[in-house]
Amino acid sequence: MTASIATNPRRFSRLSGLGVFRPERVVSNDEICEKIESSDEWIRERSGIIERRHADAETSIIDMAAAAAERAIADAGLTSADIDAVILATISHPLQTPSAAVLVADRLGLVDPGAFDISAACSGFPYGIGLADSLVSNGQATNVLVIGVEKLTDWTDPYDRGTAFIFADGAGAVVVSPSEEPGIGPTVWGSNGAEAEAIICLPDWNALRKENAETGIEKWPVLHMQGQKVFRWAVSEMAPIAKEALEVAGLTPDDIQLFVPHQANMRITDALVRALGFPETVTVARDIQTAGNTSAASIPLALDRLRQEGVAKSGDLALLIGFGAGLAYAAQVVRIP
Ligand code: UT7
Repeated sequence: MTASIATNPRRFSRLSGLGVFRPERVVSNDEICEKIESSDEWIRERSGIIERRHADAETSIIDMAAAAAERAIADAGLTSADIDAVILATISHPLQTPSAAVLVADRLGLVDPGAFDISAACSGFPYGIGLADSLVSNGQATNVLVIGVEKLTDWTDPYDRGTAFIFADGAGAVVVSPSEEPGIGPTVWGSNGAEAEAIICLPDWNALRKENAETGIEKWPVLHMQGQKVFRWAVSEMAPIAKEALEVAGLTPDDIQLFVPHQANMRITDALVRALGFPETVTVARDIQTAGNTSAASIPLALDRLRQEGVAKSGDLALLIGFGAGLAYAAQVVRIP
């Protein structure tokens, strides 16, 4: 037998703080319809969106993420010196490298933190919570910032009637810290890369560089979505995943107070609620009405709204589920800080 490997003592983790950043500019459906053939009525009926926030040209995802993170750290009663790891979920960071996480960590003045990005689109935030739970539980880190941030308007064609009205900008962050009691349930996650083309950023850079050189017009890749396909997948496949996240946490729908799905489309939320059979005591997050679909940022933004409205109270149990491009998904139960 060779020498044994020492491990850190195991412990529980919990959410200790939450903070968000919503860009100032409110964009109405009518304004979106100046560039696409659609109507306020159609957008409300088919997606539930009444308005959304767009960040201005000068505001980067680093600005938005840092603002949300500062609020989450303060909400946890900590300072940036207490944070030793940063996990940042996004699909709208314009640089392939360095990661947005290291830039945000530097902006916050963190000293030598572990920092990395995850690319799991609309499931990025619960993926990040699952990773942070593991890092804290096994003693690899003490206080982990998990950030979901998107400036999707940089990657959306305002003339595409399949995406222009749905995608929006924002940021949300939580701190995951050690706990005497379990504050985060096991994460149920998965992916299906065979359906990668359902939401994809096209065309690839090489093709676009060639086109730009030929036309003299500088264009970026943009998001393309097969809306109906993603809709059907979310409605049929995500309810069993949400159910499993409850079961592995040893809970039933009667035990939770809040259901906070990714804010993809109000009709998807309604279908999930019907399939899961929540009692009336469960409050369902519907932040999409005024925030649009902000991908990795949508769950913490929706959680924050419920807290601001006094509906989500400290100690409440919330079922989170993210799903989208990949296709990828993740879900878990958390206790509200
Ligand atoms: O967050 C990541 C994951 N993303 C999602 O979960 C999004 C999932 N998908 C959706 O939310 C929906 O598919 C959309 C909201 C994007 C679209 O709604 P839909 O009900 O699936 O529309 P559709 O594509 O099936 O189109 C229905 C009709 C079509 O007309 P016909 O063929 O029935 O005459 C479209 O041409 O609506 C038409 N249409 C529009 N009309 C007005 C499509 N887009 C628009 C539009 N305005 N923007």
